[in-house]
Parts: sequence; structure tokens; C-alpha cells
Amino acid sequence: MLIKPARRLRGRLRVPGDKSVSHRAAMLAALAEGRTRIENFSSSADCASTLEALRGLGVGVERDGSVVVVEGVGRGDGAPRFRPPPAPLDCGNSGTTMRLLAGLLAAQPFASVLTGDESLSARPMRRVIDPLGRMGARVESVEGHAPLRVEGRRPLGAIRYEMPVASAQVKSCVLLAGLGAEGRTEVVEPRAQTRDHTERMLRWFGVRVETRELAGEGGAEGAREGSVEGPGRVVVSLEGGARLTARDLTVPGDISSAAFPLAAAALLPGSELELESVGLNPTRAAVLETFRSLGLALEVTDAREESNEPAGRIRVRSVGGLTPATHGAGVIRGALVPQLIDELPALAVVGTRVEGGLEIREARELRVKESDRIAATVANLRAMGAEVEEFEDGLRVAGPVRLRGARLKSYGDHRIAMAFAVAALSAEGETEIEGAEECVAVSFPEFFQLLESVIER
Ligand code: S3P
Repeated sequence: MLIKPARRLRGRLRVPGDKSVSHRAAMLAALAEGRTRIENFSSSADCASTLEALRGLGVGVERDGSVVVVEGVGRGDGAPRFRPPPAPLDCGNSGTTMRLLAGLLAAQPFASVLTGDESLSARPMRRVIDPLGRMGARVESVEGHAPLRVEGRRPLGAIRYEMPVASAQVKSCVLLAGLGAEGRTEVVEPRAQTRDHTERMLRWFGVRVETRELAGEGGAEGAREGSVEGPGRVVVSLEGGARLTARDLTVPGDISSAAFPLAAAALLPGSELELESVGLNPTRAAVLETFRSLGLALEVTDAREESNEPAGRIRVRSVGGLTPATHGAGVIRGALVPQLIDELPALAVVGTRVEGGLEIREARELRVKESDRIAATVANLRAMGAEVEEFEDGLRVAGPVRLRGARLKSYGDHRIAMAFAVAALSAEGETEIEGAEECVAVSFPEFFQLLESVIER
């Protein structure tokens, strides 16, 4: 795909429904007793994979654009029964589909197989295989990778699980398995807290989920061990056998999708954008604070709750170059990393315009996303003429520099494609991104069309 430079962005956008929230809404609606109508369901291919997998498990799912209606398989005894799938469940490119479904299926009395595309089959799955094994399920893999064969058991045994990596997918997997366990399942987050959509969605469907901070045990200690001050470690727990009750809901807009037009506005002085109805969950919204700390004028209005998730309107005006508000603002690390993990490639691109540049550290997880996002970001930034240093756990980009148009790869990764489409708008000359059009559908099919609608050349 060929991308021409733009002068600035002006206008109003509405990004599609949040991908993380949509996955959870569909899965929990499937477990619930009764029919749930989900509005503003994500248009992503990833969430379509979740719906297809649920259909494969005998769940009635109807879809009309962004409205999805799910017939739950929940029963009065708190033991929802899916149908053994007649064929492997294809999770496509979606890590969330595979890891969360593995948790659900671990508590079902049959075996199922989860497959994925080439990228998903290369991603680490031991992080869910281990805890599910401890709970009594048998999960076979190809040396820790998909395809996974999940042989479920009901009831599972409840565990207290200390997560070795800060991953909301792992936390959610264990909590969903915990619904089918005997006793109380506890998940202890590492020092960094991950997105809490599963907890919120479980509560929406009537499950009591407890969240508390470990005082003394991990709180102060965790902050001392790490490189930055962070909040105390959080323990999330629930009792097995809880019943979920169907309840209609509306999904807020996806802040991770919103990050791309915001990044474009940051790169193009004179831009003015308004993004309607964006999810502002505090465990996801760190990207906004980061933009602010880098000197972008950003305002949230119309703040409200949308089905247990904070949401609001974001208004951005970019006037000139980006100058960090404080000395440390040019470094992203520590507890902040999981809270803007999906926005890091876009932020790295914005870093090329920041006075003093931008450094991202303690973000090793980026290497095991849909692509190795550290390597992909470094290669593309260098191709555009930026000065970049690569670390095992991150990168440092020098700034401010003007990027040059170049031939880039998307690495089959939607967020790399979008981050560099944004970079291309601010570059000198045209940029070609191979495979960009196809791969944005994974999270944000409307990306190029929406962006085009606010571009002034
Ligand atoms: C997600 C969690 C994150 C994130 C992914 C979606 C989720 O992954 O990167 O895009 O919906 O729980 P990890 O759990 O691997 O950090």
C-alpha cells in the first residue's frame, strides 16, 4: 500500500468497539444463562475468530454488523456445557481467543483442539499450559506452541497462581478456568497490573470477583525491586461454580485503535481531532497520559460508564513540536509497560518528533506479539532515516528528526502496519508498506478509510 504525506488531520472520528472487551463479552455471554445483546461489538477479524470458535462449541451467535446476540449455554447448576467441537477451533491471528478459550475449555468434560495462523502458532503458550495443568486439565502442545489440545476436566482444582509475566490473557485464562474449579482461584499479578476487562465483565454478568492489593507481601517490596515506583501487587480471586446471568451491554471504542489517529495528530502540527466514545479504562488509558507528558494537548470530556467500563470523548490539538513536560517523560518502562503494551510501536514513531527522543525499556514482551515488535519497529524506523538503538528489552529513538518515505514491511502485524502508516503521513516523500491493507483487518478494518476521512493534504 502506498501512503502519501499529509499536512494535518481535522475532524471527528468514531473508532470501532474495543477488541479486548468484545472477546470477553462474547465468551462470558456464552457461559451465561439467557440471551445477551452486545452493541458496538469489535469489527476486528480477531473477535470474529472468537465468535466462530463459540459457534464451533454449539453456542448460538447471531451477528448484524456491530450487534451480536449470544444465546448462553449456562444452566441453573452453574456448570455451563458447550458441545464437543466437531473440528479444531481456528483462533486465526488472535492470542486472546486462544489463551482465554483454553481457560474456558479446561473446565469442560471433553477434549478440543485450538489452532491458529503461522504468527499465532509461533507465540508462547506455556504461560497458559502451566497453570491449567496445575488445575488438573491436560493441555498438549507442540513444544509450548499451538495447536493446543485441551483435555478438560470438571471440576478443576482451584489454585493460587503467581503470574511470571504481566499478561492479561494469562490472568483471564486462569480466572475463566477458575469458574469451573472447586474452591477459590487466586491470580497474583506481577508488580505491573494488567488490563482488568475480564474482572469487570465477570461482575457485569453477576460474578463476585475480588480485587485486593497485597500490602507488605508484594507492594512495597515490588516497588523496591523494580526500576520505578509502582503500585502494590494485585490479587484477583473468584469462587468456582458461580453462575453468570445474561445482560445486554455496549462495548466502548477501542483506545488501542484510537492511539493511531492520536499519534498521527501528534506528528502533524495544526491537527485537531475529536474521537467519540473511547474506552478509558485506567488499566488501558496510560497512552493518553504519556501523550500528555510528551507535550501533546489532549482533553477528555463527556466521561461516563459504559457497561462497567469508563468511556469518554478525546479531543486533541497539536500546535508544534513535542517537548516532554518533565525530565523523565522521555522514558517508558516498569509498571507503565503493560498498560500501553499495544501502543508502543505508535509511541516509538511519535518519539522521532520528541525533543530528546524516546526510550522504551522492560518491554521484552513486545518480542512475542503478533511479530517481534521491537525488531520490526527498529527496522522500519531505520529505513525511514531515524537513529535508533535496539535493546533486548526495548529501543531508543533519537528526536526530533524528520522521517523519509521508504519501502517498509508490515511483518504481517496489524499494529506495525498502522504505526508506520501514521509515520508515513509525516514523512518526506511517499512510503510503501507491503501487506498493510490486509493485516489491519486483524484489529481495525476501517483504519485507512477513517484516517483518509480526516486527512488534509
Ligand atoms: C490482551 C492482552 C495483551 C494485549 C493483547 C490483548 C487481552 O496481551 O497485548 O493485544 O485482551 O487480554 P498479553 O496478555 O499477552 O500481554
